[in-house]
Amino acid sequence: MELQASLFFWILIFLLYLLFSLLIKPKLWCNCEICSAYLTLSWSKQFNNLCDWYTHLLKNSPSKTIHIHVLRNTITANPENIEYMLKTKFHNFPKGKPFSIILGDFLGRGIFNVDGDSWKFQKNMASMELGKTSTCCYVFDIINCEIKTRLVPLLSKQDQVLDLQDVFKRFSFDVICWFSFGIDPSCLELSLPMSKLAMAFDLASKLSAERAMNVSPLVWKIKRALNLGSEKELKRAIERINLLAKEVIRQRRKTGFLNSNDLLSRFMSIINDETYLRDIIISFLLAGRDTVASGLTSLFWLLSKHSNVVSAIKQEADRIIGENKELTCFDQMKELHYLQATVYESMRLYPPIQFDSKFCQNDDVLPDGSVLKKGTRVTYHPYAMGRIEEIWGEDCLEFKPERWLKHDGVFSPGNPFKYPIFQAGFRVCLGKEMALLEMKTVTLSLIRRFRIQLLTPPSPDQHPRFLPGLTATFSDGLPVLVRNIQPQP
Ligand code: HEM
Repeated sequence: MELQASLFFWILIFLLYLLFSLLIKPKLWCNCEICSAYLTLSWSKQFNNLCDWYTHLLKNSPSKTIHIHVLRNTITANPENIEYMLKTKFHNFPKGKPFSIILGDFLGRGIFNVDGDSWKFQKNMASMELGKTSTCCYVFDIINCEIKTRLVPLLSKQDQVLDLQDVFKRFSFDVICWFSFGIDPSCLELSLPMSKLAMAFDLASKLSAERAMNVSPLVWKIKRALNLGSEKELKRAIERINLLAKEVIRQRRKTGFLNSNDLLSRFMSIINDETYLRDIIISFLLAGRDTVASGLTSLFWLLSKHSNVVSAIKQEADRIIGENKELTCFDQMKELHYLQATVYESMRLYPPIQFDSKFCQNDDVLPDGSVLKKGTRVTYHPYAMGRIEEIWGEDCLEFKPERWLKHDGVFSPGNPFKYPIFQAGFRVCLGKEMALLEMKTVTLSLIRRFRIQLLTPPSPDQHPRFLPGLTATFSDGLPVLVRNIQPQP
């Protein structure tokens, strides 16, 4: 019976897809070299990751822009085009409906998923809150508490093998939940079962991202209407998240929110609508969790291959903070220019968000002459940009934090459209400073206490394999051997 229902479902999907393709999407097949390689997957014979193939194509394109006709996607690594999309003609390149429909059930009307007035309202409110000194101190305290009470004790257990990627995911989920909701899911307590919120959250992010991989949105829409398979699972995961979020909001109303510092309490003094509050906070959880974990994972992968960089970070810390002394306030962090340069350099080569798309609202022409029809997806590609000589020079493939330092050793961020790791222009990441603080504090605490070695050291020309998804994730995790090098600080 179940088999018959499933067969019927797939026949229905196929017929609807045919109809959809004939009536709405005239470009089912394209014989150009790039589209053929995409459709036949022949690129995968030469490249481990789709992003490496796109990088190869973008490097060889004179304008640093390519077109995947079958996807109606224009991909660019040209900083002038990026400035045009994200700043000059910002209003013509919104996130657009295709993106917001895919993530709509999970993110609702949260900042990550809306354009126009709703986005402006949340952005203004959030940037006011995040810019306050009291918020920065609150974040610094949360990060340090999680490091001292959980991360360091976990790594201090005698000579052990750990998947650092998993550890960083748990760490950043604890931090972002504490910051956003004022709750502690204790994910880094490996002895406790993974929190229900973290599990439901993982599943909902994964299944929402998978919607985008269907040949047509009709597939997941029909599955959702019939409550089948992955859509049934997604619905359940979202119900669990909603229940937990509503419970936290109700509790906070009972206990009072005026004296609490978390983001939810700050928003509760302005907004009454429970669902809207839930949506706002869930966007922050999504934005701040996997991105930081991904950034830390590639940073430690690179550090394990560059002991000279580890030594230089330690020397700078000893000079500014003092040998065997701990960082006491986040103002001291501002003087650690080499550390900041290292974090920037690591994300130049391994951006947590490898590419990001917008949709062209009305016909337009990019500065490099690329013609865009209304409704075209336009993607900027920070991963490819980090590997382009015309942007970063002949040594672009080398891990060199020094490239970010001026002659006097002071960090200089340069043109943001050459480095759109946190996006740039009007929709620049609101958690950028928090993310940098988190990554720098963790790096400093770990490399001054532990010797961290990859379990299987990679050959010099070996590169990570990534899982498909919204954020860069190493497909095999990051198994490392951790040894104490000194009891303190
Ligand atoms: C290394 C870590 C991070 C990276 C690389 C990163 C990168 C980005 C990028 C590329 C966007 C633009 C996404 C888009 O519009 O499609 C973005 C937006 C955003 N990020 Fe981050 N992010 C990081 C950490 C964080 C953290 C920790 C928070 C939370 C405090 C956060 C909060 C946000 C928010 C709220 C937005 C939406 C901004 C808007 O639409 O106006 N991010 N981030």
